[in-house]
Amino acid sequence: MIRKCLFPAAGYGTRFLPATKSMPKEMLPVVNKPLIQYGVEEAMEAGLTNMAIVTGRGKRSMEDHFDVSYELEHQIEGSDKEQYLEGIRTIMDSCSFSYTRQIEMKGLGHAILTGEPLIGDEAFAVILADDLCLADEAGNGVLAQMVKLYKQFRCSIVAVEEVPMEDVHKYGVIKGEMIRDDIFQITNMVEKPATEDAPSNLAIIGRYILTPDIFDILKETTPGVGGEIQITDALLKQAKEGCVLAYKFKGKRFDCGSIGGFIDATNYCYKKFYK
Ligand code: G1P
Repeated sequence: MIRKCLFPAAGYGTRFLPATKSMPKEMLPVVNKPLIQYGVEEAMEAGLTNMAIVTGRGKRSMEDHFDVSYELEHQIEGSDKEQYLEGIRTIMDSCSFSYTRQIEMKGLGHAILTGEPLIGDEAFAVILADDLCLADEAGNGVLAQMVKLYKQFRCSIVAVEEVPMEDVHKYGVIKGEMIRDDIFQITNMVEKPATEDAPSNLAIIGRYILTPDIFDILKETTPGVGGEIQITDALLKQAKEGCVLAYKFKGKRFDCGSIGGFIDATNYCYKKFYK
């Protein structure tokens, strides 16, 4: 039903300079796997097989990552090192990848709109790969939880998490009416509010399910905070005209766009998956 997942991945990753000077931030490895691959695996686990990646200049290594490397594969063929490629081979066998380039950086809303030709007229998911999300205790990934909700409610859904009030200025923040203890119908949302203007401490994290009417709304959305076209502003319009839900997901999320979050994710994943 939801088949496509959009990955806005054109950003500069300035917080990780100099590492990201010639390498996309989405290719930074948490232990031995790039962030973008964690995202693609989460999408696959939610039943999505069509990965649509919005890239930019200097991001070609992402395309190469999800392609065959003949020389390398020839070199290690038949050796025990082949096992290290099993995960990525499964992804390549089960998913398709399409790419488009964002020429100018005009915000997340603009990046999502740039992906329209890859998505078309159907509901789709969005993953911001620098928010690394890991499954809940029962093993359900965050996107899989959201796809399940979409089947029930059929409207746009954003994932939210409670954050300390002093951090709300880093996020889109929602206000809503509680429908269930973990679902809110959004009545207001503000992008990167000052602490005193924040409508709550429920912050949007980088997982969305969007209905395709969002594209027409984005075309009409004027630049907001930071002079950028904000998906938060477009979603507020959608919420006012119809319904947008906020879902308090189960599982763990690491802000790998910050050095501290990235180190936490690395330590956590090393202990959980490799030790
Ligand atoms: C974007 C969104 C913001 C959201 C955040 C989640 O901000 O604009 O609403 O809370 O992602 O990571 P960015 O982190 O790109 O500044």
